[in-house]
This record gives sequence, structure tokens and C-alpha cells, in this order.
Amino acid sequence: MKLTILGGGGFRVPLVYGALLGDHAEGRVSRVTLHDTDLDRLTAVARVLDEQAGGVPDAPAVLATTDLDEALKGADFVFSAIRVGGLAGRAADERVALDAGVLGQETVGAGGIAYGLRTVPVAVDLARRIARLAPDAWVINFTNPAGMVTEAMSRHLGNRVVGICDTPVGLGRRIARVLGADPDHAWIDYAGLNHLGWVQGLYVNGRNELPRLLADDALLGSFEEGKLFGTDLIRSLGAVPNEYLHYYYFNREAVRAYQRAELTRGAFLREQQQGFYARMREPGTPALATWDRTRAEREATYMSENREVAGAGDRAASDLESGGYEQVALALMRAVSRNERTSLILNVRNAGVLSALDADAVVEVPCLVDANGAHPVAVSPLPYHAAGLVTSVKAVERAVLEAADSGSRSAAVRAFALHPLVDSVNVARELVDAYTRVHPQLAYLDKP
Ligand code: G6P
Ligand code: MN
Repeated sequence: MKLTILGGGGFRVPLVYGALLGDHAEGRVSRVTLHDTDLDRLTAVARVLDEQAGGVPDAPAVLATTDLDEALKGADFVFSAIRVGGLAGRAADERVALDAGVLGQETVGAGGIAYGLRTVPVAVDLARRIARLAPDAWVINFTNPAGMVTEAMSRHLGNRVVGICDTPVGLGRRIARVLGADPDHAWIDYAGLNHLGWVQGLYVNGRNELPRLLADDALLGSFEEGKLFGTDLIRSLGAVPNEYLHYYYFNREAVRAYQRAELTRGAFLREQQQGFYARMREPGTPALATWDRTRAEREATYMSENREVAGAGDRAASDLESGGYEQVALALMRAVSRNERTSLILNVRNAGVLSALDADAVVEVPCLVDANGAHPVAVSPLPYHAAGLVTSVKAVERAVLEAADSGSRSAAVRAFALHPLVDSVNVARELVDAYTRVHPQLAYLDKP
């Protein structure tokens, strides 16, 4: 099996490689091709992988290249984990929004729309290229904003592209753990869009255990989402929201905290990662140890302002371990390539599962995965408040896709204006002007 990673010089690639190293079964990935536009970053990451492979006799062979066509040819799986505009682009997405008085975040609100407008045209080019050069490959999209990008790619790759996020898995695991259930044997009734979903039930042996959690203050307040949202809100909703809903339910506080912060998340990571890649250019640097230290710091500071707003304290030790993102990817590949049936929460075409959305809308729902791909399964219907947010945000995503496709500036303005976290059409217009000034990749928005 050949796996190609687009964005192969990215910081989280060693997580994926680490998961592959633990797979010794027949039909496992034996070759990994890293593709990146930046040779320096590729070299740095290849050094980390080389140390990871030390002492593992059947470690997958690693090849690094800046030639995209060469990377794609013969691929069985393609992971797409690119970052158009780099972390400097992310920092600008966040800053422009915060200066306009609205949320500046990588995937939610104005920042996510700006990131989508930059990324979708590139993702579509990649999808077309994959359809031509590796028509049988399965594509796993990690690139944020993951739901929107997966939908854009699905227009060219159909069901061969599946989007991944680790937040639903992490949430399901935390709930299962506090209930004393085995996370691997719990069925999670989760639905929504990427970074916009709710757990409405958690079934163990056919029995819904969520009511037991909702009824118990101590249990409910003992894990990340319980602390972020507070027990009253969760109990009143009757569902546990994905952590990204903190940006919606506590928007005013989150925006203020982000405005006050010395550095946005993107700016913090830009500096952290610059330091990492610079150290990796020095020959004596212990690659794996340096990478791991950097990773731990990134994990510990994840959503720190939101936790501060909520008085949630530090992240739990179990949430700092990796195991979400890369394990979902590995499980997905195993299920597809070896028909090892499993159920995973993934970003796929709706096909009727959420009645408020059309069949082609990419949603984040539990799927049964087998050699034929990921098949979404029935979930509890979304209550009005959730269906309302989901349909609004899907309309925003569709406007982004339309703008990316046509170059229409008014579609871009509509994307911002329709977002529930952008409170005026004037702000939406301002945002389009400001983003096109700072991002050269948005020069295509030149049609009326
Ligand atoms: C979560 C999200 C991802 C995001 C990651 C890293 O796992 O689901 O979509 O990429 O956090 O966030 P960070 O702020 O560290 O880049
Ligand atoms: Mn995610």
C-alpha cells in the first residue's frame, strides 16, 4: 500500500507515521510519500520520521518530493493536510476579524470563511489532479476548514474523499470514560457539520447512557466540554456540544478574550513552528525529542482562552496525549483496504441522514466503513436550534464554494454576511475588502 501525504512537511505528519508504525498486519501501508511545496519543511519532518522508524524492522519506507504528479501516481491513499498561506495566513485571518470586532478563529466565523476562500480553489485543483492521476485512490481530507474543503473535493471525487476531525472522537471518548464505559464499544449519536455538532446519545449494549451523565452534576462537570459549557447549559440542551460551539454559545466572551490575547493562536503557532523548523536545520538537533516537546506545548495551549473564559483550568492529562487524529485515519484506511468493518464519525455526503440538508451536503456523522467506503448511518434528528445553525453555516459554506468557483465578490460578501457570528452586512463588506488586501491568494475575487 502506498500512502501519499500532501502537506508532508506539516507538523502533525509524525503522528500519522507513528500510527502506521504500530500496524504490522498484512496489507498495511508499506510506502509513504511526503509531498510539500517547501523542501526545507519536508527535510525537517523526514528527520523526525527517520528517528521514529529506528528499531522498527517493518517501518514503512519514506520518500520525500516536491513533485506533485510523482507523489500522486500509484497512491492507494492520499492524505491531504495542506495549509494555504501557512501560519502567517492563519494569523492574518484571525487578526483581520478581531480588528473588525468579530471572531478570529481558524475554522469558525469570519476567520474560517477567509481560510476557506483561500483553500477551496487549491483543494479543487488537487481533487482534479487526483481524479486524473490516481483515480482509484481514497482521499482522506484533514485540511481545514475540513467540512467545506471535503465538500468542494467531493464534487470531483464523489465518495472517494472522506473528511476527518478528531474532536467528535475525543468528545465521545471523554463521555464514555466518565460513564465508565469502553469508548471502543460505545455508539455515539453525534451529528452536525465539522466543528458544529452535538452528542445526543451514547449507547452501550443498546442502552442510552447519556441521561445518566446529564443527571449527575459531578460527572457532567468533570470533563472538558462539561467545564467549557457548564452543566446548566448542557442539561438544558439535553446534548453535549462539540467544543467548537463555545465560539457560538459564548461568542462575546470568546471574542473579547481573543482580542485581549497578546498573540492570536495562529501567531503563537507561527512563532512556535518557525522555531521548530529553524532548530531542525541544525545538524545536532535531536529530531524526535524536539518535535515531541513542541507538540506537547501545542496541545497544552489549545483553546486556552476559551478555557480561561469558562474558568475550566488546564486540560486533562488524558486529553494531552495524541491518539485522536491519526488513529481515526489509520482505522479508516484499515477498514477500506482490508474490509475491517468499523464505525467512525466522519465528514461525508449527507445522503438523507440530516433531513434539513440536501444529499450532497457534507456532514459530520457516524459512518459504517468497509471496503466500499464510508456509509453514513441514521442519527437522532437535530432539534431546531441545532438544525438552524447547521443550515445557516451550510449556506455560508455554499457561498464560499460559489465564490471560489466563480470569483464572485458578492458571493464572498454573502458568505460573511450570512454567518451567525458576523453581525452586519457592512462588517461583511469590510471583511472582504480587508482580507483581499492582506491575502494575495484572494486576488481571484475580481468578478461582481
Ligand atoms: C483540533 C481540531 C483540528 C485542529 C487541531 C489543532 O484537533 O479538530 O481541526 O487542526 O485542533 O488546533 P491548533 O489550534 O493547535 O492548530
Ligand atoms: Mn478538526
